[in-house]
Amino acid sequence: MKTLTGIQPSGALHLGNYFGAIKQMLDLQKSDELFLFIPNLHALTTLKNAQLLNSNTIEAASTLLSLGIDPAKTLLWVQSDVKEVLELYWILSAYTPMGLLERAHGYKDKVAKGIAPNHALFSYPVLMAADILLYSANRVPVGKDQIQHVEITRDIAIKFNNEHGDIFTIPEAKVEENLATVPGLDGAKMSKSYGNTIDIFLSEKELKSRVGKIITDSTPVEEPKDPSTCNVFALSKLFLDEKGVQALSERYQRGGEGHGHFKMYLKELIWDYFAAQREKKAYFDTHHDEVRDILSEGARRAHEIAAPMMEKIRQVVGIYK
Ligand code: ADP
Ligand code: TRP
Repeated sequence: MKTLTGIQPSGALHLGNYFGAIKQMLDLQKSDELFLFIPNLHALTTLKNAQLLNSNTIEAASTLLSLGIDPAKTLLWVQSDVKEVLELYWILSAYTPMGLLERAHGYKDKVAKGIAPNHALFSYPVLMAADILLYSANRVPVGKDQIQHVEITRDIAIKFNNEHGDIFTIPEAKVEENLATVPGLDGAKMSKSYGNTIDIFLSEKELKSRVGKIITDSTPVEEPKDPSTCNVFALSKLFLDEKGVQALSERYQRGGEGHGHFKMYLKELIWDYFAAQREKKAYFDTHHDEVRDILSEGARRAHEIAAPMMEKIRQVVGIYK
């Protein structure tokens, strides 16, 4: 199974990103041929600060490597390093009916949020199709908001194959249906855009302060508390096995401990869970040259796959040689 996905370079990752996406990738890299890239060209559609886009790209790579993405198992690269994807993007554009893009929710949502509707934002799904089809991926793990983009990819690939034969593998989106939504400080879905996140790599002081901001009810210390409605409990669960969940649940129901105690406990859980990863992150933060070497090697290997595929595509559409 060839599995491919892209992780946007949009700044620090939070617990929602970890438990909702990265953790699955760490599992997948054990069993699948995993292709993982940082779509910095896609990010350009909304991020217009050059310095930030540049630093976020290397930050995303350092984060993925620190969290356990292993370049010996997973092909990790930056989208813009393999130029073939832009050539394929143009060719696929010629096989993409306008109506297909006009129906894209992602585009409409972004425009509704006030993002200036430039052409790259509109044709975003075509570049995404090129990302997927260039590497003949079968499976594309994505969040729910990206399913339509994978469907657009399928439509473009089928249309192209109908005219030119079996060039492209038709990919399938893989969505974890039973994945819990990680709640943020206010109990709503943890998301950068809601400002309610707990980032993975905070200093101990920042982490303590963030956890301290989780909204809890005002049940007095001595009274029993309901774990099922508590945000601190919901977050703690992510780090505990069944026995740990049971023990914490009993502490809630026994009474005698306040939310302050439970917050301290959660802070310790998060701090300990990411201890080794935090050390790796500190290392990569001071060794960007090593991160760049890993990305260059990834791009070289990705290019080895992309180049012959592009040759085939140029030939079938009649690009002069
Ligand atoms: P954000 O909402 O912070 O901008 P993204 O939309 O960039 O996050 O999400 C990147 C990945 O992380 C997606 O696969 C998404 O499904 C997952 N993810 C983000 N927030 C959560 C959450 N609160 N719970 C579970 N998964 C999440
Ligand atoms: N659009 C995806 C997102 O916002 C990122 C992405 C770009 C992607 N190209 C991709 C994901 C190809 C999967 C496959 O999350």
